Amino acid sequence: MDAGDMDGDLAQVLITEEEIASRLDAMAAQIEADYADKDVLLVGVLKGAVYVMADLSRRLHRSVPMDWMAVSSYGSGTKSSGVVRILKDLDADLTGRHVLIVEDIIDSGLTLSWLAGNLSSRGAASVRIATLLRKPEALKVEVDVSYVGFDIPNEFVVGYGLDYAERYRNLSFIGTLRPEVYHH
Ligand code: IMP
Ligand code: MG
Repeated sequence: MDAGDMDGDLAQVLITEEEIASRLDAMAAQIEADYADKDVLLVGVLKGAVYVMADLSRRLHRSVPMDWMAVSSYGSGTKSSGVVRILKDLDADLTGRHVLIVEDIIDSGLTLSWLAGNLSSRGAASVRIATLLRKPEALKVEVDVSYVGFDIPNEFVVGYGLDYAERYRNLSFIGTLRPEVYHH
């Protein structure tokens, strides 16, 4: 879906489809270089990272295995609860593997710092993080992010995998919603 399909719910386009694509080109090139002599396992965090995973992994010039996890820290609201629950665990054994976590957004950083620690404790050789978006709050937390697409202001965004109450994930760009949308 695009701006014209938003029925007036869209406040602002923050990052266009083209801008996302060109940042993903650069991130993929950097990942290729960093993992030149290593096998990497991509771990996507459902559901938001589906689009980043699809578009980032297809830019890599090699076959990469990928696995998925589902964790919950938000419910349907817009504030982090700080409590992380595993809703779906990985299929893969991480022993000795170089893991690259692929995320849509880091906000408080609570989810990612917990997840990185959790995956490290399973015997991974290395755990790195790639995220399309990062909010300013994330900089306060002890979470080392190797690849960042865009640093964005502290606003709630939707699209390109990101939802508000499970809506707008399939919007092709990143945007903000009009305040009225949150009031029903
Ligand atoms: P954190 O634990 O605060 O870093 O939250 C990370 C998770 O919260 C992300 O994976 C998203 O699912 C959700 N989230 C944080 N900010 C936004 C936003 O602006 N729009 C949509 N989802 C968000
Ligand atoms: Mg969400």
